[in-house]
Amino acid sequence: MDLVVERDYPTLSRAAADVVTDLLTVKPDARLVVATGETPLGLYRNLADRKTRGEIDTSRLRIFQLDEYLGLTSDDSRSLYRWMREVFLEPLAIGDHQVTRLPGDAANPSEACRAYDRAVEQAGGYDLAILGLGPNGHLGFNEPPSDADTPTRVITLTPETVHSNARYWGGEDRVPRQALTAGMKHLLAARHILLLVSGQGKKEILARTLEGPVTRELPASFLQRAQRVTVISDRDAMPTSPASLAGEV
Ligand code: GLP
Repeated sequence: MDLVVERDYPTLSRAAADVVTDLLTVKPDARLVVATGETPLGLYRNLADRKTRGEIDTSRLRIFQLDEYLGLTSDDSRSLYRWMREVFLEPLAIGDHQVTRLPGDAANPSEACRAYDRAVEQAGGYDLAILGLGPNGHLGFNEPPSDADTPTRVITLTPETVHSNARYWGGEDRVPRQALTAGMKHLLAARHILLLVSGQGKKEILARTLEGPVTRELPASFLQRAQRVTVISDRDAMPTSPASLAGEV
């Protein structure tokens, strides 16, 4: 696992955009699973600027949705697909036909999750997983406890996640209590995982992710065993122990 510590959020975002740009250069038809949340917004703005300048080609990308609230249509203001469309897909001119969704409004959500996993497998897995870190160590909505081999599935959100997601939608009452999440199994098997972590509030959970015991009670800790992980953090989120500091740039 590589830890890259950047000075601040803008440099974190540019460094993350460089990772994605490098991949697109060598593999224009890469398969990406893409997080929403606040942390990757700077990365997506950087990529959109590069797209506008003609520096990257997104026409052959294949995108997989990371997570979605259960029971919402894609035009609900809280839909994570809608959020992804606004901050990532449209600015990068990525069409709906390039995206494998996790449909929150599926008639049979469990079957939709199985279909999603089949699509990931048929695509040969993810080339790059762009992930944020939940305050309780979740990846996507893989809430604790989540084992390393969990499939894509319907999950009940923990009170902590409902609380942290409330900031997106203006209150806990507005946060759905269940969600669909890409499973740990395919996420951990991604050929490259890019974990973005910003801000003082993530400092303790990042330290536990990097150096704590590997446990289903902190799903992100399984990243310690994944094949290729790049963690890009800003200084505010940087763990202060000597082992982690070794990776500072
Ligand atoms: C949310 C989402 C994750 C996201 C994480 C961190 O609950 N389910 O996909 O990566 O928590 O979000 P943020 O980047 O806003 O801190």
